[in-house]
Amino acid sequence: MAKIPMLDLYAEYLYMKEEIDSAIRRCLEHQKWILGPEVKELENKIADYMEVKHCIGCSSGTDALVLALRALAIRTKGKEYFDREDEIITTPFTFTATGDAILRAGATPVFVDIDPETFNIDPAKIMGYLKRNSGRVIGIIPVHLYGQACEMNEIIRIANEYDLFIVEDVAQAFGGKWLDRKLGSIGVVGCFSFFPSKNLGGFGDGGMVATNDDQIAELVRMLIKHGGKDKYNVEHIGYNARLDTLQAAIILVKFKYVDRFNELRRGIAEAYNKGLSGFEGIVLPKVYEKAYHVYHQYTIRLRDNRRAELQERLREVGIQSMVYYPYPLHKMRVFEGRCKVFENLKEAEKASKEVLSLPIEPLMKEEEVYRVVDAIREFYK
Ligand SMILES: Cc1ncc(COP(=O)(O)O)c(C=O)c1O
Repeated sequence: MAKIPMLDLYAEYLYMKEEIDSAIRRCLEHQKWILGPEVKELENKIADYMEVKHCIGCSSGTDALVLALRALAIRTKGKEYFDREDEIITTPFTFTATGDAILRAGATPVFVDIDPETFNIDPAKIMGYLKRNSGRVIGIIPVHLYGQACEMNEIIRIANEYDLFIVEDVAQAFGGKWLDRKLGSIGVVGCFSFFPSKNLGGFGDGGMVATNDDQIAELVRMLIKHGGKDKYNVEHIGYNARLDTLQAAIILVKFKYVDRFNELRRGIAEAYNKGLSGFEGIVLPKVYEKAYHVYHQYTIRLRDNRRAELQERLREVGIQSMVYYPYPLHKMRVFEGRCKVFENLKEAEKASKEVLSLPIEPLMKEEEVYRVVDAIREFYK
């Protein structure tokens, strides 16, 4: 029986092959590999789409976060890096890059627990930490996990009350919204990833920083090019962190399809919701009314400790499934002695043992979606 992978990037390539091939050919003709015209075009198109003033292409989603935080440190502290005493609140239930970027910018990550229904950071826990320890916190990084917005009304209210910056980690939520606002346009900076498996992905690494702040934009533009306006006479400790022309050319093609593909993802999620409802052992994804969820992942929670067993059964019938994420960040060695934990992170720890993400390839055929549903229903029968 044909396998059902989590994603089928080759099928997506074939779907837009002519356009991608000719975009690559154009680059071969003009040979402007570094900050070529496609980079500017992509930055302008995404800035219009996001309704923000500036978008700056960069080398990855991880670097987008580091660049955003470094620019904030330079602007707010007049120093290259934050100090260890500067605290940034975020979720422990995310990809390691979120917490790692905070360390690389010199600050200390403070992990607070998640909302067990949405897997996103719980604003009540942010508030709980601030009430007791408000002095040292400088910002919040909400991560719109699996493609769903965090509870942004509350997060904005808290940030205003305590005068904190918000840097959004939008790596998993390109095209997602909170009310009518695009994710990544709400905080002072939004950080995107174009990793190939993302909703808008390239054929390699890439990322983008979105902001309405002129000064942050200018600093990020310097930091991606070694730290100066003039590459041969620099002011800051920068990086070589530009977005490749070739990636920009490919992403420009894929960008045309991203809204349509997000709608297809939502359709698949709806079919899963229908097919998998009514089982005691399965908790379906909960969606905020105010969020437009773009289902980077369709993630269920499995009760009764049956995840490994179900994964094995799916594997036997050719269906791939994944665990995002098996370890919350505070359990990783890299954060040992370098992070703070508010109260306990029981929900994040529980989620890491119970979540399972199912295939959600926008071009999946209907019968493939039903094959996944049937295999799970069969398992629970
Ligand atoms: C939530 C989150 N943040 C940050 C990143 C980092 O992005 P990249 O892999 O492009 O560095 C990723 C993706 O890998 C992610 O899922």
